[in-house]
Amino acid sequence: MKELVSKHILLGLTGGIACYKSAELCRLLIKSGATVQVVMTQATGQFITPVTMQALSHRKVYVSQWDAREPNNMAHINLSREADLCLIAPCSADFIAKLAHGQADDLLTLLCLARPLDKLPLLIAPAMNVEMWKHPATQRNVAQLARDGTYVLGVSCGEQACGETGDGRMLEPAQLLDEVIARFQPKSLAGQHVLITAGPTYEAIDPVRGVTNLSSGKMGFAIARAAREAGAAVTLVAGPVSLTTPYGVQRIDVRSAENMLEAVMQKASTASVLIATAAVADWRPMQASEQKIKKDGSGQVPMLTFVENPDILATLAQSARAQNGELFCVGFAAESHDLLAHAQAKRVRKGVPLLVGNIGPATFGQDDNALLLVDEVGHLELPRASKISLARLLIADIARRISSGAK
Ligand code: CTP
Repeated sequence: MKELVSKHILLGLTGGIACYKSAELCRLLIKSGATVQVVMTQATGQFITPVTMQALSHRKVYVSQWDAREPNNMAHINLSREADLCLIAPCSADFIAKLAHGQADDLLTLLCLARPLDKLPLLIAPAMNVEMWKHPATQRNVAQLARDGTYVLGVSCGEQACGETGDGRMLEPAQLLDEVIARFQPKSLAGQHVLITAGPTYEAIDPVRGVTNLSSGKMGFAIARAAREAGAAVTLVAGPVSLTTPYGVQRIDVRSAENMLEAVMQKASTASVLIATAAVADWRPMQASEQKIKKDGSGQVPMLTFVENPDILATLAQSARAQNGELFCVGFAAESHDLLAHAQAKRVRKGVPLLVGNIGPATFGQDDNALLLVDEVGHLELPRASKISLARLLIADIARRISSGAK
């Protein structure tokens, strides 16, 4: 999806081995529709060449303040006035220290200092050795930058180029791309805690078999990403799915409906929104066998007795916090036919102010979907689009309802 069309990104590279990831990041930004102007420090040339970054960004890289292309000799002003966002990736410990002190001794530091604070957001993706990252001086500088309005992205933990292990690795290019896209989304859920259920549940029959369904979890994960982009703290309770957790989202993996209910109850006391997208199994075998059920050759099939699972959404919708307006509950309905009638009936049955209908077989596993939003007064169709586009529209709709005091 071209989510950065008409956005101009200043991509700053400072000296560090993580520069190899910046090449891929530049490619992803371009693929998303952005135009990218790369600016490098002198030291960066030890790790990656301007030729590589020029080929990927389709623009000549800037390294010097005295670049002959600028007739007014003011590259720092010109570059920082035409950009929509500035991302320094990788951002070395040395560069962080310089930014924290407002130093301006090369083009990249200069343009960071010269940028209009209210017009050009600055994101930094730190990358350094674990001891450098932990050092009080670095942590002090990072805290200062955050106070100054810089968005300091996290670091990841793992094996480092130097052979040591720990925090300080730069985030992956795909995560950085998501962070850039997120900065352009309206912060309509700032201060909210959104709790989301997603994916199928798995109800064990014996240690090797169980009952589940075809839900991929993609819609729920897209909503988690959209809620986080909108500034919310997000907890995603996921059944068994193989999807990457959206950056910045707290994920709790569960298996059965009972596990899902337990995890949701633990988080519900601080949540202000619940969005139940999970395709929770309606029934579970009354007693899962401890040993694998064997075929005995007689042709007899085992008789399984099922019991009903707890209804997570209905339980939460009836809680005191939902009833007095502290928790806004949104249900989903995956139907095969008569979507509007089923969604209207289900909204009333579940006791929720908003229910989102979709056609199950047409959406399971797909990257796009169509939604039908049903509330007390009517319904609204969101036509077929990518799940992330629909998720953003749904989050904007929920944010409007919350701010207008809907219960
Ligand atoms: N849901 C839930 N717990 C359950 C069953 C459903 O939280 N045990 C939630 C789903 O996450 C969804 C909504 O309730 O938000 C509707 O789910 P759905 O499976 O469509 O509804 P059912 O109650 O199972 O109704 P039916 O099987 O008749 O369609």
